[in-house]
Amino acid sequence: MSNIKKAIIPAAGLGTRFLPATKAMPKEMLPIIDKPTIEYIVEEAINSGIEDIIIVTGKGKRAIEDHFDNNFELEHHLKKSNKLDILDKVHQSSNVNIHYIRQKEPLGLGHAVWSARKFIGNEPFAVLLGDDIVKSDTPCLKQLIDKYDETGLSIVGVQEVPYDETKRYGIVDFLNKNGNTYEVRKFVEKPIDNPPSNLAIMGRYIFNPELFTYLSEHKKGAGQEIQLTDSIEELNKVQKVLAYNFEGKRYDVGEVTGFILTTLEFALMDERYKLPIENYLRERGYTNEN
Ligand code: UTP
Repeated sequence: MSNIKKAIIPAAGLGTRFLPATKAMPKEMLPIIDKPTIEYIVEEAINSGIEDIIIVTGKGKRAIEDHFDNNFELEHHLKKSNKLDILDKVHQSSNVNIHYIRQKEPLGLGHAVWSARKFIGNEPFAVLLGDDIVKSDTPCLKQLIDKYDETGLSIVGVQEVPYDETKRYGIVDFLNKNGNTYEVRKFVEKPIDNPPSNLAIMGRYIFNPELFTYLSEHKKGAGQEIQLTDSIEELNKVQKVLAYNFEGKRYDVGEVTGFILTTLEFALMDERYKLPIENYLRERGYTNEN
């Protein structure tokens, strides 16, 4: 049995890249086909054995709480009209408890994680960001939890990205590699030039609770935000933080192009939509097939 039972999902950001859609609607509620992005993340946490999730919310994020609540009126209506397959989709899983805390101001991801410190207490915990959806045989978070159970060390999930995109990510400067696991010399947030590698931190982490010591300092970093990566870097100086190159395909849904491409790819993987989309693309000459 793993010790990792609690997870934080930060969802208090302003979502400026999706404005005006996110003026009154949380970015985390934008759907890929018919499911809000945050639900993919919650499912991954449940499938990885997480029992308690705390979602860090902020102003204008009420729809997230409503979404994970049971809607008795809707469920009654679906039962009465015998729409049992849809009922299945809207009924809330009882396999997990979802809690909420408000980040009073969106001061940065590090500050959002710090806001959940009382809920976590003195235990190791997971963090999942909604900007990445991962499709994999073993859930991405479960891969990290297995590595934590083996080592007892904090772990960040990484994947390789093209070098010209490294400035968008936290990047790992590694000392050595053993299979998929890297010991890390330094974590660098959004390097402007000379990235030390192309291993980018994706939105999956396992931390020992000592991380909060550094988050409590509220130091501002890149973009004048309280960066999570800066505290990870501090933790790594006193207690190793590993990087783990997880197996799976990662979909970047935190920016508009990635979001559109993910929607298209998920639709093409779905038998309900595959054929009409392929026909549409062919008829308008977007593919080379006849
Ligand atoms: P992002 O930078 O991707 O989200 O943060 P954002 O700030 O909402 O988006 P843009 O850049 O304005 O378009 C990564 C994750 O951290 C959360 C966000 O909600 C997102 O899930 N976050 C970020 C917080 O919870 N609080 C913050 O202060 C900042």
